[in-house]
Amino acid sequence: MKKVLVIGSGGREHAIVEALSRSPQVDKIYCAPGNAGISALAECVGIGVEDVDALARFAAENAVDLTVVGPEAALAAGVADRFAEDGLRIFGPTKGAARIESSKEFAKEMMDKYNVPTAAYRVFDEFGDAWDYVRKRPLPAVIKYDGLAAGKGVVVAATYDEAEAALRDMLLDASFGKGRVVVEDFLSGPEFSFMCVVSGEKVYPLAVAQDHKRAFDGDKGPNTGGMGAYSPVPFISDAVRDEALERIIRPVAAGLVKEGLPFTGILYGGLILTEEGPKVIEFNARFGDPETEVVLPRMKSDIYALFNAAVDGEDFEIEWNPEAVLGIVLASKGYPGSYAKGEVIKGLDKVESSVYHMGTAAKDGSILTAGGRVMMVVGKGADLKEARDKVLADIARIDCASLFSRSDIGYQAIKS
Ligand code: AMP
Ligand code: GLY
Repeated sequence: MKKVLVIGSGGREHAIVEALSRSPQVDKIYCAPGNAGISALAECVGIGVEDVDALARFAAENAVDLTVVGPEAALAAGVADRFAEDGLRIFGPTKGAARIESSKEFAKEMMDKYNVPTAAYRVFDEFGDAWDYVRKRPLPAVIKYDGLAAGKGVVVAATYDEAEAALRDMLLDASFGKGRVVVEDFLSGPEFSFMCVVSGEKVYPLAVAQDHKRAFDGDKGPNTGGMGAYSPVPFISDAVRDEALERIIRPVAAGLVKEGLPFTGILYGGLILTEEGPKVIEFNARFGDPETEVVLPRMKSDIYALFNAAVDGEDFEIEWNPEAVLGIVLASKGYPGSYAKGEVIKGLDKVESSVYHMGTAAKDGSILTAGGRVMMVVGKGADLKEARDKVLADIARIDCASLFSRSDIGYQAIKS
């Protein structure tokens, strides 16, 4: 029997831990640092996701067979490099390979070099040059900070004033740290998330999902980490998925091998279906959150066997359950701005769907809010509408005045 360590503390890691707990090969799961929900399935250990020395020491001392990385911060801290040095098995890319997420400029260069469809772009490090370029171009202007900015480094500006303010913010005020910006063409079409397990040139595609980034119904309000997701995505045909696989994911995986940066882990394509076919909005080097919470419950295959196949570079065929899965995030009022913490959440015992904890704390037998995105309620059904109805009914059973959620998750796919 095998021991696994999962790194991270959100809903994504809760879903990974749950999927691993279904594996007949796994009998012990550790999670660093984990959260109040994860502690029901795994032993939570108090090590931070960027403390790579302590993580490697823990894995070695506890004879962990495989470590699975959740957040990008751990990848950027070099956790996979460190584990490799110590001969420890880990599912997650090296710091160099993870630049496909951490540097937008590197991602764009890779796409240019390997002919991967994406928006045309220019890179700037001087405010004057950037503003001069943007003000002569059509709106909306798409302005991206070149580096990790916790999902907040992208501005789609509808006016020149907004564009100028974004450029000032990123290049003059250095609110994200000293960096550069990528200015790119605006693309339009439905967006979808295509996560693939990648092992060097081998690619094992996961089911397609769709995330909802805006805070409020009707895709209004500020961008967030994601307010809900569902899978399958009926308007993304198998043909479009296959095109994305052949023209986007495989060339990037093979390209990273050619660049001497072979990738092991999840290559996440944030894609948009334009009139010219699927194009790349962004890459992530890890599982998406909240997409993971709706994709992994659909996986019929043993995820431990899948992770191992990837680490060893072996073939693997993933099997899927036919059910539709839809999840809605409960967030603290005020998120993605400032919000209160420590509010008691009642009624969770009456919920029939799965609940993945994103930002909670346990105290004296109660579950408290402890983050912006607090939890995700995820339901299954014969179709997406049935799944959503179950989730909405469950959310009505949850009693906490300081939470809000969207009621229209899946609206592009659910006709009713
Ligand atoms: P990102 O963090 O790169 O995923 O961008 C956040 C959001 O900004 C995306 O989900 C899109 O809705 C939007 N976005 C980013 N790039 C573009 C683009 N080139 N054209 C249109 N929308 C974009
Ligand atoms: N759901 C988008 C992300 O994980 O970045």
